[in-house]
Amino acid sequence: MKAIQFTGYGEVSKKVKTSEIVKPTISKDEVLIETYAASVNPLDIKVVEGKLKSVSNFKLPTTLGYDVSGIIIEKGENVPNFNIGDEVFSKVNRQGTFTEFVAVNQKLVSLKPKNTTFEEAASLPLVGLTAIQALKRGKLKSGESILIPAGSGGVGSFAIQYAKSIGAYVYTTTSSENVSWVKKLGADEVIDYKTVDYTAIVQDADMVLDTLGNEYTEEAFSVIKNGGKVITLVGPVDKETANRMKLNKITKLFLAFKRRKITKQIKQKSAFYSLVFMRANAKQLNEISELVESGTVKTKIDKVFPLKDTLNALLYVKKGRTKGKVVIKIK
Ligand SMILES: NC(=O)c1ccc[n+]([C@@H]2O[C@H](COP(=O)([O-])OP(=O)(O)OC[C@H]3O[C@@H](n4cnc5c(N)ncnc54)[C@H](OP(=O)(O)O)[C@@H]3O)[C@@H](O)[C@H]2O)c1
Repeated sequence: MKAIQFTGYGEVSKKVKTSEIVKPTISKDEVLIETYAASVNPLDIKVVEGKLKSVSNFKLPTTLGYDVSGIIIEKGENVPNFNIGDEVFSKVNRQGTFTEFVAVNQKLVSLKPKNTTFEEAASLPLVGLTAIQALKRGKLKSGESILIPAGSGGVGSFAIQYAKSIGAYVYTTTSSENVSWVKKLGADEVIDYKTVDYTAIVQDADMVLDTLGNEYTEEAFSVIKNGGKVITLVGPVDKETANRMKLNKITKLFLAFKRRKITKQIKQKSAFYSLVFMRANAKQLNEISELVESGTVKTKIDKVFPLKDTLNALLYVKKGRTKGKVVIKIK
């Protein structure tokens, strides 16, 4: 079967290839999904570029992709809750999804939302799980205010709708050409960052979901209230996360040095700061299904590429200008 793999760490254009690989066999706790669609995340690019080498070891070549939707065509003997023919979606942990068949542990699979196409379903797992886990980490409550920068991105567009469903007041930023469709996601204030300084508008927010990193992580502290929260997806590793990762003393010292400016800001604002590493979670996939089936969350698809053009899809996402999600149609 065809699979899009990376053969070594480096530039996406040089290291991503189409390969012929063996169709996977399943263990007794797994289902075999015939892939109908997969979606591209910036994570796929970071993996190829070797930005996750310190936390994940890949045996090369490895098939890329984390999100999948499709139909179960085989199931293991210990799989009571799924049937052959079920239409499902999943965020997998290891074996990639840019291929024709994927073997996945039943614990990571959920029935896809009934009101979506396979392409729409494949666009949801990773960004939806990230948004849910980040807002839960920050314990966002009804009536609180949150800044979600990059509202036109995969995570941002889901997080805006999820935060509104909680009852929060949502600020977001996006460039001029995206303002009108991002408004339709329900954000209370959509700030065009090309023409307006968002830090002059957002003040004393209860939370920031930092999707941009670098200077934006530091800036987040200037717009939260005293005692507010900064939940980051891309900023420096916080102390508790570093402890949980069981890192050695030297790595921990290095990370403490890297977050020294943030540590100062945390103290000044008596803030809570935490880095979220999204985890696969079928219970939360069910929550995503319910949010989509009830119409609370809608997905926005920017472009659909066939499997043979996955490299172009990756290069498109790498530019960082995606409007919603980029999907690979496989069947
Ligand atoms: N820690 C985790 O577990 C985790 C999980 C998921 C994602 N992430 C990371 O989180 C980041 C966001 O992911 P994503 O999937 O949402 O990315 P994405 O869909 O590729 O984000 C692209 C969007 O970012 C917007 N953007 C870029 N620069 C901006 C700026 N300065 N201000 C406002 N908007 C800006 C672009 O809009 P314009 O064209 O309008 O600028 C575009 O719509 C990535 O770095 C990803 O790797 C981490």
